[in-house]
Amino acid sequence: MPIASAYTGYGFSFPRSSRRSLLKQSDEPIETMFDAADRKFMKKALSLAEKGLGMASPNPSVGCVIVNAGRIVGQGRHEYARVDHAEVHALRQAGELARGATAYVTLEPCCHHGRTPPCVHRVIEAGIRRVVVGRTDPNPAVSGRGIEILRSAGIQVDAGLMKEEAGRIIEPFACRITSGLPLVISKVGMSLDGKIGTARNADPSISSPEGKEFGHSLRLRTDALLVGVGTVLADNPLLTYRGKLPKARPLLRVILDPMLQTPPASRVFENPSPVLVFCRDAAPGACRQQLEDRGAEVVSVPGSEDELDLVAVLAELGKRDVLGLLVEGGSRIHWAFLSRGLVDVFYFIIAPLVLGGNDAVPSVGGRGYDSAAEALKFRIRKSFHVGPDIVLEAYPSCSRSIISPWLSSDTVPSGVPDPVTSSDPK
Ligand SMILES: NC(=O)c1ccc[n+]([C@@H]2O[C@H](COP(=O)([O-])OP(=O)(O)OC[C@H]3O[C@@H](n4cnc5c(N)ncnc54)[C@H](OP(=O)(O)O)[C@@H]3O)[C@@H](O)[C@H]2O)c1
Ligand SMILES: [Zn+2]
Repeated sequence: MPIASAYTGYGFSFPRSSRRSLLKQSDEPIETMFDAADRKFMKKALSLAEKGLGMASPNPSVGCVIVNAGRIVGQGRHEYARVDHAEVHALRQAGELARGATAYVTLEPCCHHGRTPPCVHRVIEAGIRRVVVGRTDPNPAVSGRGIEILRSAGIQVDAGLMKEEAGRIIEPFACRITSGLPLVISKVGMSLDGKIGTARNADPSISSPEGKEFGHSLRLRTDALLVGVGTVLADNPLLTYRGKLPKARPLLRVILDPMLQTPPASRVFENPSPVLVFCRDAAPGACRQQLEDRGAEVVSVPGSEDELDLVAVLAELGKRDVLGLLVEGGSRIHWAFLSRGLVDVFYFIIAPLVLGGNDAVPSVGGRGYDSAAEALKFRIRKSFHVGPDIVLEAYPSCSRSIISPWLSSDTVPSGVPDPVTSSDPK
């Protein structure tokens, strides 16, 4: 199969042009002037949503602040286990002071019945005069209709304030709700010369403590963490979330292991977070039984001798309400996802050291491209220090993210795979 071609099976493919219109449509900002106070209060709402990043899945994390006469009178964020949406928490706190107030909400208020009644009615009943929205809802069941309902009730709605920051928070939710597949975030901790292991030491512990902490912030944002069996065999990692902020949903540890070589004594089985192993049908039944006895769920997916069908893997994770998937490698797995156009954002955590070595493990292995012209192209949206390390937040041209820098560009380089995404959003 040619490197740059996209999977089209499972009904999960449509051309790049349709993907663009889908994403743009869900994010039509309504131009308006925002002042410094608006920015200050939206920042507060965003920080509430940020703090709740690990608490909302499978719903989006949302923050809301109610402001009356320049004073915050109510605030809230959505946590899945507490059922109520951010607006309801904030309105409850504001009580009568909500009358005539402005509500700052990071995501458009909902207008559909889910586990709770629509928030738009609560906002209208509370007597809110103006609503400032960070981002319109990518959920096709809402997508602008919440704003319309508020407007037709006579409420002033100004949308699109700090929409990039608001979009970052709901990036995994937006991807899953529009495509059925999780947002794929890849992450690698590497040396300046792009190595992740040496010939004699599989896990030379490259990233600084701050770099590792940043890695945990990515585990906080995602519902599942995926590695290849090569990494399990080489590093025997725990693959748990050990960050500072609370995380409600246990991280699902996913291992791609075609022939079930994962040792039953691996450390991944030493803690209660679930383990899901994808293998081939032909994998030995005895190994399957041993891993199941250790508490793992083992699922067969189609694939060739040494490669599992990654779209089938993503589709299965999407069905399990995985909004964001963090791919941590190793080398071959990164190539497998990148070369099939399945990565939406890639974090390169670069430590200031050179490992060298002809036989060292490269950050991305596999067959590789033949020329720079053929190579997958990225746009760097952000670069920043974490301790001594530098992080590059890079979006490949195949990214399905709602904040991909490629969305504002009309030129997509040739030769890159179309991403795989569902034509039947759910
Ligand atoms: N610094 C970091 O951020 C970091 C993170 C993770 C790993 N690492 C390093 O990476 C190295 C391990 O990398 P690796 O390349 O040897 O192993 P890997 O990428 O972890 O695993 C590769 C294995 O996954 C299986 N696989 C299943 N589906 C696949 C697909 N579609 N494409 C490719 N492979 C698929 C294959 O198993 P079969 O062999 O059964 O076919 C393959 O051998 C270690 O040195 C580890 O320390 C570093
Ligand atoms: Zn709501």
